[in-house]
Formats: sequence, structure tokens, C-alpha cells
Amino acid sequence: MVFFRAASPLLFFLLTRQSGPYDYLRSISDQFTAAGSHATFFFNGNNFACIYDSNRVSDIQYVYAAGHMVGSHTWSHADLVTLATAQIQDGMYRVEEALSRILGIKPAFMRPPFGSYNDDVQSIAAGRGQSLALWDWDTGDADGNTTAQSEAVYNDIVNARLKNALILEHETEETTATILVPYAINLFKSKGYNLVTIAQCLGVDPYQAIGVPQTRDSSWTCDGTPDPGEVCGDPDACGGFMACETGTPVFSTAPSGPTTTPTPTPNQYIHPSANASKCLTASSNADGALVEVEDCTSAGSTSQSWTVSGSAIQIFGNKCLDVTNGATADGTKMQIWTCATRKY
Ligand SMILES: *[C@@H]1O[C@H](CO)[C@@H](O)[C@H](O)[C@H]1NC(C)=O
Ligand SMILES: *[C@@H]1O[C@H](CO)[C@@H](O)[C@H](O)[C@H]1NC(C)=O
Repeated sequence: MVFFRAASPLLFFLLTRQSGPYDYLRSISDQFTAAGSHATFFFNGNNFACIYDSNRVSDIQYVYAAGHMVGSHTWSHADLVTLATAQIQDGMYRVEEALSRILGIKPAFMRPPFGSYNDDVQSIAAGRGQSLALWDWDTGDADGNTTAQSEAVYNDIVNARLKNALILEHETEETTATILVPYAINLFKSKGYNLVTIAQCLGVDPYQAIGVPQTRDSSWTCDGTPDPGEVCGDPDACGGFMACETGTPVFSTAPSGPTTTPTPTPNQYIHPSANASKCLTASSNADGALVEVEDCTSAGSTSQSWTVSGSAIQIFGNKCLDVTNGATADGTKMQIWTCATRKY
């Protein structure tokens, strides 16, 4: 549930094509965040840059923490329809492993390089729990379009009064960060569009699972992995032959290494600062129930007894205080949602 003045949603679909995570990631993330909006980023493992470079790792964590959606764009950006099954699996495995290590997520969406796919690619992705994500509109920002030509693509969408549009841009282009993103955000917001992630638009989970990041070790490297455009199992590869990885990456749901678990503070009322006789109250125990301020009732009222546990504020045992659709704007309504599937 999102409370925007928009008449219709716009799915703003931002991804890296000839790219790893790259230099303009934070700038683009910040612009969407400042607009109270979210974009979707599909990352390669080893293309423009290596996903394990320490600055790339922190940039990806930054974007994720800001509530933007992250998906797979395969390891080396090879064209999947030209590959054998084990090579396709490997291209998916390696970037899933990186996202599991860096963010502690299992992506639910995979954007095939060049938008190139066939039934095999689709069923292998499905076997890994992923839907394919394509696009409706390509700004051509990575194909030599001028910024004016790319802006014309946005204008066409607005002039056609489309209800939804999935738009492709590339985080690796400096002018995308400095010219196209500001232009698009201004244009679409001024026309009442809501800029959302692909998962928000579809009303589905962006991830198959959310766990915890892992601790960096010497295996976090692009050495010994396919170079940009190359694949496993190729005796002629520049990086040398390497075996294909076809399994499922290690996924952590518990913090790695020694940790101190803070003791939860159980069953307390939460009062707005102005009035100690008012209490934060869940309107029911269902996912999506609004959280409101009401008069405090007698001690022990389950709809007003909150438990602070780590970064979560819980109620009814397994529900967490949550914002609607990850919105960050002032005035965003609060709700409760089952903690394990809480997205924000
Ligand atoms: C480039 O810009 C033109 C004109 O706005 C547009 O029709 C086209 O779809 C864009 N994309 C590509 C990949 O050329
Ligand atoms: C605080 O809330 C109580 C109960 O609704 C109300 O009677 C009282 O006037 C409020 N106090 C202030 C300072 O607003």
C-alpha cells in the first residue's frame, strides 16, 4: 500500500548493462532516494569492474541499505543463448554467490545480458528461483544515443500517457547520472508518476530470501573466474580453463563470526513524545495492518506491547514494525508485517 498522489505507477527500471557496479552508482541511488523513490539495479560480477573490489562492495551495500532493489545480471555478461547449460548455470551461480556474500540476499529476478534468452535460459533461471526481467523502453544511453535522444524516449512515454513503463538505463554512463536521471525524476514526478522497483510494481518479493552478509575472506576475488564476456569450461579462454559451478551458493541466515546478541526489551508501550497516555497500536495482527496512535489500554494489551530486538520492533511474536512499500518520504504510514519476510 503506497500513498502517493500519483494516478498511476511508473516502474523505473535501472540496470547495468556493459557493467559491473560502477562509478555512478551512489549518485544515482542518492537521486532516487532524495525523490522518495526506488530503482532496480541488476549487477554483473565481472564486467566493467570486479564486484568484490572493496569500494564496489560498499557501494552495493549502500544502494541496498537505501531500499533500492538488487538483481542478477550474470557474472561476465556473456550472451546466455550461445552457452551450454553448465555455462549458463555458472554465470548465474557466481553473481548469486557474490550477492549472498555482500548483501545476504537471494535475488528473485535476473536480467539476461543483451535481453537475450530462450526457453532453456528461462527454465534454468526458474530452477534457481528467478524470473527474467526485461524492459519496455531502452533510453539507448549505452548505445550512443545523445542525452537529447534519451530524453525524447521519456517524453514519448509521458506524451502517450502510459500507465506503466519499464525503462532501461545504464549506471555506467556518466551523463545518465548527471543528466538523464535528474531529467527523468523531474519529468515523471511532475506528471504524477510513482517511481518504483519492479517488485513493488508487481506486488511480489524482490528476493527469494533475506539473510545476512558474510565476512570477507580471500575467496572474495574475481581471480580465477570468467573474464568479461567469457565463460567457464572454455579451454581457449584468456583467463585459462576453469570448471563450471552449477550448484547453489552458501547462504547465511545467522551472522558469521562471534557476535553479541543484544537482549530484547520485551513488551513495552511506545508513546509519542507529546503524550505518555497515548500508545503505538497495531490495528490488527494481520500483515499490512496499520499502526496508529491510540489511548493506552490496560497493561498487557497485545496490540500495544512491543519488543525491541536488534533493529526490529516486534509485536504478536513474529510481526515487525514496517513502512509501506519501503517508502522513505516524510509522512509515510507505518504497518506491521511478518518479520522474516519484512522487506524494509
Ligand atoms: C535512442 O533514441 C531514439 C530517439 O529518441 C529512440 O527512438 C530509441 O529507441 C533510443 N534507443 C536506442 C537503443 O537507440
Ligand atoms: C493526552 O492524551 C489523553 C488521552 O487521550 C488526553 O486526555 C490528554 O488531554 C492528552 N494530553 C495532552 C497534553 O495532549
